[in-house]
Amino acid sequence: MAKLAHAQWSSKMAFVLAAAGSAVGLGNIWRFSYLVGESGGAAFVLVYLACVALVGVPILLSEWMIGRRGQKNPIDSMKELASQSGKSKGWALVGISGVLAGFLILSFYSVIGGWSLNYTLSSVMGTFSGQDADSIGAIFNGMLANPGTLLLWHSAFMLLVIGIVARGVTKGLESAVRSLMPALIILMLILVGYGMTTGHFGETLAFMFSPDWSALNGGVVLAAMGQAFFTLSLGMGIMMAYGSYLGEDVNLLSTARTVIIIDTAIALLAGLAIFPIVFANGLSAGEGPGLIFVTLPIAFGNMTGGVILGLMFFLLLTFAALTSAISLLEPTVEMLEERTSLSRVPATLVSGIVIWLLGIAALLSFNLWSDVLFFGLNIFDLLDTFTAKILLPLTGLGAVVFVAWCLDRKSVEQELALSGTGLSVWNIVARFIAPIGVIVVFLAGIL
Ligand code: PFF
Ligand code: NA
Repeated sequence: MAKLAHAQWSSKMAFVLAAAGSAVGLGNIWRFSYLVGESGGAAFVLVYLACVALVGVPILLSEWMIGRRGQKNPIDSMKELASQSGKSKGWALVGISGVLAGFLILSFYSVIGGWSLNYTLSSVMGTFSGQDADSIGAIFNGMLANPGTLLLWHSAFMLLVIGIVARGVTKGLESAVRSLMPALIILMLILVGYGMTTGHFGETLAFMFSPDWSALNGGVVLAAMGQAFFTLSLGMGIMMAYGSYLGEDVNLLSTARTVIIIDTAIALLAGLAIFPIVFANGLSAGEGPGLIFVTLPIAFGNMTGGVILGLMFFLLLTFAALTSAISLLEPTVEMLEERTSLSRVPATLVSGIVIWLLGIAALLSFNLWSDVLFFGLNIFDLLDTFTAKILLPLTGLGAVVFVAWCLDRKSVEQELALSGTGLSVWNIVARFIAPIGVIVVFLAGIL
């Protein structure tokens, strides 16, 4: 058994919960549904599922392996393993781009986390009760138009993240994730049930699962792959960091299966809950990032017990967003603690404030800075696009290529506890299918 350099998860369950807590977040509900709507439905969904299976699985495993073998933060783990394998220290770039991607993502993620907080409060106050699609749309647009409101909620969300990480209470979140995740799933099922009463459920099934392949192009495929990375928290340094706390006894394959099933199930349920409301109210599926905020309140405003259900839903969504955000800030803070003279509280403040400031630029792109465009994208879209479509795939590619081609085979066999056919399948997927898949999709999407 390898000697472990630092702290470990208290149990296998703790690791599964932490990984699932990071994976399940706004990506599953907010981002997944609006991308499905924007990208023409089933064709996107099916490509996304294929990306999760063929690219997501091997990269998730590779990141965990790098962490567990390297026993350090993402950057130093890559450095360490590269020098052990007689490879260039330049591989540390994989860790660096992961950490950078994480920073950029958290800045706009916090803005949406803020929307979710705001909607939690609005649900309690009964703001949505009896409202039709038009007035719910107006409430949402009113929020977007007001930089002060957006700033308030973005700051509140970031303060929560900073507060929790600074106090180092993240371990206590395990038990919270354990009970809140099932609650989120039950709530999604109730919403899917509501969707069935709208008379547009069949249409939703067709929209999500019966592909019109003519909707497919390089851009859509790249968006689907980007979403696979985003939703599994890949390419952000998170899973590498988590792997470094991992004991030798944890089976990576079965853990990956659990995390991926939960994450994918919640995304698909979100789609099944949201699109019946879109179709029943004549809304546009291509609404964009506001999709869940202009649809779900219609359901909550018009169903019995809607005030309570709406409150619970946005509270759980906020909580899921918080556990994801913490999963990102925690390793960064730990790295700063290890590598600089900063202690935990200042380390958390420094990283939190940088992210908060970037988030302000993102939220202004919905109002005052809506005309500020780079490559035709506003700042919010630029951050989202540059990370999900470029940084995450490149970081993930680096991780899987390193594990499949540079790490010694004995380590890989041990890490995966595979032999014979299983090992051959791994080798084919990790050496060829995943890397070639990422490269082809990347080039097709960019060009
Ligand atoms: N996997 C997360 C999700 O699907 O919501 C993505 C994520 C975003 C994780 C931002 C961490 C983070 F800070
Ligand atoms: Na996710």
